[in-house]
Amino acid sequence: MKPRVLIAGASRGIGLEMAVQYAAEGWHVIAACREPEQARHWLPPTVDLQAMDITQAESIATLAWHLDDAPLDLLIVNAGIYGPDTEHFTAPSDEEFDRVMRTNVLGAMRVIQAFAPNVAAAKGCIVSLTTRMASMAQTTTSAFGLLYRTSKAALNMVSRAAAAEYGPKGAIVVCLHPGWVRTDMGGADATLSVTESVEQMRHVIGSLGPGDNGRFLDQSGRSIEW
Ligand SMILES: NC(=O)c1ccc[n+]([C@@H]2O[C@H](COP(=O)([O-])OP(=O)(O)OC[C@H]3O[C@@H](n4cnc5c(N)ncnc54)[C@H](OP(=O)(O)O)[C@@H]3O)[C@@H](O)[C@H]2O)c1
Repeated sequence: MKPRVLIAGASRGIGLEMAVQYAAEGWHVIAACREPEQARHWLPPTVDLQAMDITQAESIATLAWHLDDAPLDLLIVNAGIYGPDTEHFTAPSDEEFDRVMRTNVLGAMRVIQAFAPNVAAAKGCIVSLTTRMASMAQTTTSAFGLLYRTSKAALNMVSRAAAAEYGPKGAIVVCLHPGWVRTDMGGADATLSVTESVEQMRHVIGSLGPGDNGRFLDQSGRSIEW
């Protein structure tokens, strides 16, 4: 049977490229997008496109119901938003806070809870796309992107807690920094193409073992300090 991956947020950028590369490698790819029909044009016809908005609990539940207890070798929690592009320490508005935290934190919690049993059943991996900007140890000289980095630091805790819960049940749960990548979010000046970043991350994901459960890694497989 083909290995199976579910990508939460596969309409563009890193998630879309994950879908393309895993499909090319022969995986059964379930690409979950807010607007699935908009992604159809960019994806190979073999990809199983599904609707899922990670800010909508019913939307996650509908896809979980559809998958039922089908095993998943890999869950990629990719969907994320940046929010206000602040340079200095700037508290967000209520609306900005709610939007970013609902997506990057609550959405990830719900997606992991919904699909972790499928991953544990396959002794698979749960990979959350986070960022070096979430490292407390490395946040020493700048507060830019305050809300984004705060939300991703919270996502790191979500991932660690998931590692504690689902690691003993057979899953390997990690946080992965993709590098600085030329996407809508990363911008044109970023150092890595989306193809390079995803190739490198796939290599890291493919080499994960039970001893990696709970780690925070970059796209080269190096540990990032929390
Ligand atoms: N690019 C970088 O340099 C970089 C660096 C560090 C970490 N990351 C992380 O890597 C991940 C992917 O980044 P990217 O650069 O590919 O970003 P992107 O180009 O902005 O794409 C974001 C993706 O997330 C999806 N998404 C957002 N909210 C969603 C929701 N509520 N439900 C479902 N999907 C949703 C978007 O779907 P729509 O098309 O529907 O909006 C899109 O597919 C993010 O978590 C980001 O924080 C990126």
